[in-house]
Amino acid sequence: MRAGAVAIVLLVGCQGVIEPGHQPPGSAGGGDATGSGVGGGGGASGGPVASDLPCDVALLLARQCTSCHGTTLSGGAPFAMVSRADLVREVAPGSTVASRSLARMQLASAPMPPSPFPPPVAADVAVLEQWLANGAPVGECTQALPDAGPAPLTCQSQSTWTQGNLASDDMNPGWACQACHRGQNVHGQNPALDAADAERAYLFMGTVFRGVNERDLCNAGLSGTVEIEITGANGQRITRMVARNGSGNFFSDGEAPRSDRLLLLGATVSLPYTATVRANGRVVQMRTPQMNGDCNACHTERGFDSAPGRVVAP
Ligand code: HEC
Ligand code: HEC
Ligand code: HEC
Repeated sequence: MRAGAVAIVLLVGCQGVIEPGHQPPGSAGGGDATGSGVGGGGGASGGPVASDLPCDVALLLARQCTSCHGTTLSGGAPFAMVSRADLVREVAPGSTVASRSLARMQLASAPMPPSPFPPPVAADVAVLEQWLANGAPVGECTQALPDAGPAPLTCQSQSTWTQGNLASDDMNPGWACQACHRGQNVHGQNPALDAADAERAYLFMGTVFRGVNERDLCNAGLSGTVEIEITGANGQRITRMVARNGSGNFFSDGEAPRSDRLLLLGATVSLPYTATVRANGRVVQMRTPQMNGDCNACHTERGFDSAPGRVVAP
């Protein structure tokens, strides 16, 4: 720490921000549907559902949009897109939800569905474009729509951490590291209230995965160098970490050789921070500044507190 240590925030005073408001039913990462409280879209729960949209449009929305823009909103989406009325609603003079949708599906800089989901293919864009060109006709779709509820969980490496709380840099990928290390039971992940000693509650801890809905305890199986850079409120870099290829885990024990043990207690850094992840020559950035450095507390299997799901290598 040399001259430029301005705008110092004492973290000891900030611990209150760490507790998420409530805990979804706990899951030990074994089973599938963990009922994280994320609503299904369109009220669909498997069976055939009547829609007042043509089937191609209804299917497009169910596949790509209503996991967030469903009757129950999730992932920070501002409105539902389930019925025809939802789509033809005017949001600004001369533009409707449907026309904005068409624009956003083609907007490379801020596509819908948002990154890290893959952008829509041309055929999907054409479905909406054609419907609008036809004057947004009423339809009647009674075909079974895919359940647009929570996305299926994945584990692309097909390899899982099975060693419980054995001390390791690769332990418990996907779980809220810092919370457990402090003896908290966030998301039901630490019912035994285990704690690591204070030497191990690092200020920034988490896991980078290959997919946005990778399941708890899945070893990420990254390749190449995946870098996480944390920038403070003063615009200066706080730390840079490299995720471990096997587990995907990272924590602010500095660059190799380990130089900056940024522990939760005692660190003086300028908060809130933003995060950037770099891999394969690509970059993805967290735009919303955050106070809590326990990445996996928000970046859960399906996302918590408006996070889109996992932190993903771009
Ligand atoms: C992972 C969640 C998610 C999915 C899936 C998703 N959206 Fe969104 N959508 C958001 C969020 C968050 C916002 C608000 C932030 C923004 O505008 O980028 C938003 C905003 C929008 C807006 C309003 C913004 C504007 O520019 O007028 C439209 C229209 C939209 N989405 C259309 C779609 C369409 C169409 C799909 C499917 C092809 C889709 N979204 C899929 C999360 C999602
Ligand atoms: C459910 C609780 C729990 C979770 C979640 C957890 N840890 Fe731990 N961790 C522990 C405990 C307990 C210890 C101390 C074990 C000991 O000393 O025997 C520990 C120790 C460690 C150590 C020290 C290892 C050593 O050799 O000294 C590292 C590094 C570590 N954890 C990283 C992580 C990371 C990164 C994550 C998140 C991806 C994480 N932990 C998630 C409970 C947890
Ligand atoms: C309190 C909740 C919370 C915590 C903690 C959190 N994030 Fe986020 N993160 C979000 C939200 C909400 C978004 C979506 C909006 C945005 O991009 O700002 C997001 C988005 C991101 C994105 C961009 C995803 C994309 O594809 O656009 C990255 C990268 C990211 N976070 C990394 C991190 C890292 C690394 C940490 C830990 C050092 C972290 N986040 C901690 C809530 C959180």
